[in-house]
Amino acid sequence: MLNNSTIAGCLEAMEPPLYIYDGDSIAQRIARVQKAFPKFSLLYSVKANPYDKILNIMREAGVGIDAASGNEVLLAKGLGFRSEDIYYSSPGKTRRDILSAMEAGTLIADSIHELDMLNAIAEEQNRALSVGMRLNLPNPHILKSKKEIMGGHASKFGIDPQTYEKNRERFHEYKHLRIQGIHVYFGSQILEEEILFNNFNTIATYALEMAKDLPLTFVNFGGGFGIPYAEEERDLALESVAERIHSLPAIQELLSRGVRCNLELGRYFVGDCGLFVAEVVDKKESFGETYVILNAGMNSFFRPMFTHDYHAIRQMTVRNETEQITVVGNLCTPIDEYYKGITLPAVEIGDILAFENAGAYGYSMSLLDFISHDRPSQIMLIGGEQVEFH
Ligand SMILES: Cc1ncc(COP(=O)(O)O)c(C=O)c1O
Repeated sequence: MLNNSTIAGCLEAMEPPLYIYDGDSIAQRIARVQKAFPKFSLLYSVKANPYDKILNIMREAGVGIDAASGNEVLLAKGLGFRSEDIYYSSPGKTRRDILSAMEAGTLIADSIHELDMLNAIAEEQNRALSVGMRLNLPNPHILKSKKEIMGGHASKFGIDPQTYEKNRERFHEYKHLRIQGIHVYFGSQILEEEILFNNFNTIATYALEMAKDLPLTFVNFGGGFGIPYAEEERDLALESVAERIHSLPAIQELLSRGVRCNLELGRYFVGDCGLFVAEVVDKKESFGETYVILNAGMNSFFRPMFTHDYHAIRQMTVRNETEQITVVGNLCTPIDEYYKGITLPAVEIGDILAFENAGAYGYSMSLLDFISHDRPSQIMLIGGEQVEFH
């Protein structure tokens, strides 16, 4: 647990701004998902946090990789993940992306153009290539989820059913491709059990249809499991949704045919296992408002400003009186503002503030080079010990 004395210990070793990750909590979270989804293979979505110490925990726990760029594939391969456990799915892959990643993992084509390109590259190299394709299936239920929807309606991701039908013949004409798997990803940060259940049912049912046509060996179900950011949000009922998903006839049929069912998660594994820690370096009044200025901003922890999710602030020093403050970064732009007019126990210059739920989409989603400050440090704690920082 990242309690205040752990944070104080880290601050003796490193100055803020810094990210602190709790490796034990990450390992426990993985174990919980493995227990709830015993028939599924797990993949970690590197984009959530590509820190190598996190990837090492994933590899040691037997979790594979969901990569979204050639470089993420190479990062995972370099850290010892097996090629059969690495899947690469993203829109707009270039020939260079494909060439860099094709030996190290399974490529998932995002369009007909990508399938054509993969076939042409395999032909040039006089080889057969096993690939998957990403589909964008209709899903009216997903629209009830509030956030980060990526499929189920018109979007840049995947191949829609009309395009699939139009190209059905073509899939068998590729001389150098074996289309062996599908990937569907409807959206992120889903906290509604019913929507998740429906997603899995939709994908499994469609996969069985496709299996009449193509020799499917894997289905990547996506995931999109959310974590509570706002106070009113509640933890996902993981075990009960997992039980319902396992009991779906379409899932059982896929499993009985030996189809590998992959569940890919990013923030659910690492989101609440990390804190972003910054120091208050100034405090001022301006036209009657109180500004608290941190030694970090959108260059170090951009996510709250970008997504407007509330990352709760934990104070190392908690005073009795409260005050209304606007929390901002130290960058020369007015958009560098975390929270306007929030009420917190009084804050003073020199205080340390820790933002919760910063383990996913923290460091790597920030504008790290903007205004040329030093980059934040990162510390991984395992067994309460600092195993590494840089
Ligand atoms: C295809 C795909 N898979 C997995 C993820 C990971 O999402 P999350 O971190 O919410 O689990 C994303 C996020 O954008 C994604 O686009």
